Amino acid sequence: MDKLIINGGRKLKGEVTVSGSKNASLPICIAAALAPGASTITNVPRLRDITTTAKLLESLGATIERHENTMRIDAGTINTVEATYDLVKTMRASVLVLGPLLARFGRSRVSLPGGCAIGARPIDQHLKGLKALGAEITLEHGYVEAIAKKGLKGARINFDVSTVGGTEHLMMAAAIAKGESILENAAREPEIADLADYLNRMGAKIEGAGTDTIRIQGVSELTPAAYEVMPDRIEAGTFMCAAAITGGDVKIKGMKLEHLDALTFKLMDAGVEITNRNDVVRVKGPRRPQAVNIKTRPYPGFATDMQAQFMALMCVAEGASVISENIFENRFMHVSELQRFGADITVEGNSATVKGVKKLSGAPVMATDLRASACLVLAGLAAEGTTEIQRIYHLDRGYEQIETKLAGLGADIKRVPE
Ligand code: EPZ
Repeated sequence: MDKLIINGGRKLKGEVTVSGSKNASLPICIAAALAPGASTITNVPRLRDITTTAKLLESLGATIERHENTMRIDAGTINTVEATYDLVKTMRASVLVLGPLLARFGRSRVSLPGGCAIGARPIDQHLKGLKALGAEITLEHGYVEAIAKKGLKGARINFDVSTVGGTEHLMMAAAIAKGESILENAAREPEIADLADYLNRMGAKIEGAGTDTIRIQGVSELTPAAYEVMPDRIEAGTFMCAAAITGGDVKIKGMKLEHLDALTFKLMDAGVEITNRNDVVRVKGPRRPQAVNIKTRPYPGFATDMQAQFMALMCVAEGASVISENIFENRFMHVSELQRFGADITVEGNSATVKGVKKLSGAPVMATDLRASACLVLAGLAAEGTTEIQRIYHLDRGYEQIETKLAGLGADIKRVPE
């Protein structure tokens, strides 16, 4: 397993380009399974989770060709509707194949995704929605089996919680159900609108994606399409925090600042200068950030996927910041690792109080989940001395060549085999 070695204390300077969105690419690649024939998806980041998605689609019989950031998915050759545990256990989003296979073939059987480090991650809303569309669902031996012999029928579905995956799952299944479906209390993340744009390019009739009410007129069949994935807003936000925590001056290209309003306003409250000129976002970090409180919320609220990164910034802020995590039940695992850098953090239930210290000191630490590992990289960039981060396979799930991009901004960071 590789590890990262960082010698901290350098201000990041220069330009960096954001890759395509992991969390848009995953459902879009899976949605390709809805249509016989080959779709060509571009701006797909080269990440472990994307490789897992390609393997999952191949295990179903699809034919995949990958070249750089392009993935050609021929779902015409799909010949099974079962997704096994060994693939689903490595990436929870794999469960999203259940609905498309069911909608297209009338049956599917997918291993139940386990929980993960940050929480139980149930899929009750996914299954409730599929049942509303007419599926018979049975759970046994760790698998969920869905059957709809006469195909799916449109329905009105009201989500009990705002769920990104649940909204994406039902949008894909309803796209080829008979009649109209309405998804109420739908999640509004930009990745959902990106998926809807691709589905509509395939011939679906979806309106309102990105709002809390999505109206879908089912069509009999979809056809493959070419599509370019949106930029990764969480990678972009991570680079904004990297510029902020090092007091640097960084231009981030290829991002959409409007996807990160909540983060932008909080960074500005902390004293970070942010300007946007034709989608080139310039971020200038202050000598020392001011402490700011955050509460994670569904979009357009403060993204839970940016909570750990923002906490790293607050570790060196002037004053005390209260960070409350309202989406996942166990997303403070980075706290104990940040304390190894000398951070002063106390956790009470779902809220962490961070008393800023003048300087962090580099230390050997261990990554626990994707965004926690990004947070440790940020802390290492700001800390005095050397930081060694182990288990960075977590990082490779969601960041394309992060050490190359950060080195390009002047960071002293390298990947070494453990
Ligand atoms: C997506 O996960 C993202 N993953 C996550 O990003 C992100 O943190 C999350 O949305 C929230 O924004 C992908 O898009 C691949 P949810 P998802 O369903 O869809 C509860 C990263 O770091 N819930 O919106 O699994 C659930 O327990 C990852 O890139 C139910 O109770 O998240 C959680 O508390 C981490 N029942 C809340 O809703 C359900 O049926 C939000 O979950 C579904 C969800």
